Amino acid sequence: MRIGVLTGGGDCPGLNAVIRAVVRTANGRWGDSIVGFQDGWRGLLEDRKIQIFNDDRTDRLLAKGGTMLGTARTNPDVLRAGLGQIKKTLDNNGIEALIPIGGEGTLTAASWLADEGVPVVGVPKTIDNDIDCTDVTFGHDTALAVATEAIDRLHTTAESHQRVMLVEVMGRHAGWIALNAGIAAGAHLTLIPEVPFDVEEVCTMIKRRFQRGDSHFICVVAEGANPQADSMTLRDGGIDEFGHIRFTGVAQQLGAEIERRIGKEVRTTVLGHVQRGGTPTAYDRVLATRFGVHAAEAVHAGKFGQMVALHGTEIDLVPLAEATKQLKLVPPDRYNEAAAFFG
Ligand code: F6P
Repeated sequence: MRIGVLTGGGDCPGLNAVIRAVVRTANGRWGDSIVGFQDGWRGLLEDRKIQIFNDDRTDRLLAKGGTMLGTARTNPDVLRAGLGQIKKTLDNNGIEALIPIGGEGTLTAASWLADEGVPVVGVPKTIDNDIDCTDVTFGHDTALAVATEAIDRLHTTAESHQRVMLVEVMGRHAGWIALNAGIAAGAHLTLIPEVPFDVEEVCTMIKRRFQRGDSHFICVVAEGANPQADSMTLRDGGIDEFGHIRFTGVAQQLGAEIERRIGKEVRTTVLGHVQRGGTPTAYDRVLATRFGVHAAEAVHAGKFGQMVALHGTEIDLVPLAEATKQLKLVPPDRYNEAAAFFG
């Protein structure tokens, strides 16, 4: 069999581990040949590809961050208009099944292709952990470890200077990284997109903490966190060419506002893409490998239009159409667990 693979959207630790697992499983068990399309859907639109061999080079991918295939974001309208071209490239290359590895955008396009009869098995990835119908996505654990270590370090410097420190982490629509890093690193407050915050309440919490004689205040802010409408006006970042909200630099703006309101020194750290780079944690390597093995098996079982997913300890298949209906946001009860430690 000839199987196509691509990685789409923002990169994520563990992508190479999935590619390796697909190659090792599909070639090792069935003698399949694996074609890697480069730079996400663009590789299919422009027919750019490489052959991926089941050899030492592939094996060395396990611990390597990023993606050997390159990745790109593609405007959904361009993708919709290019479905015919994508199918043509698949036919021209004799591809009998396609395994797109990606987040919401990539999997949505995979679902469109499945609707048009293309044999597709999706693999979910994102450090943001916001893909629905799977307990976790690989990449999240690595990002969480990076964020947690950074916040641990900020505690000691904040404590020494009796400062308020804001740490902005990724999470445009969902606050999973902020929530989990906040719990893991003992943040005094965590702000997530799902729960709009009141700046005055934030200030009161900070003042109360210092009045009690505590030494510092650490607040984790997801990049998509938003103030309540009447609480503070964020400079509008607008919408990018992919229809995504542009970064507003929420933590910087909130930090300035806190300083203005309570006259206390505030410092802000934006972790940005360090959360996404580098080697995957052992957890992410294992999950990515299991996803890759199961995606290859699904192809051979003819189970198309599906996405591999983690449920408890098992890897299952869920319909791509179901998994891409909505994003997985942080539910209120999960935020309340973290809130028990605020203040
Ligand atoms: O991959 C998801 C994500 O990490 C978001 O949390 C973040 O908003 C975005 O990627 C940043 O992507 P880019 O690489 O386009 O700046």
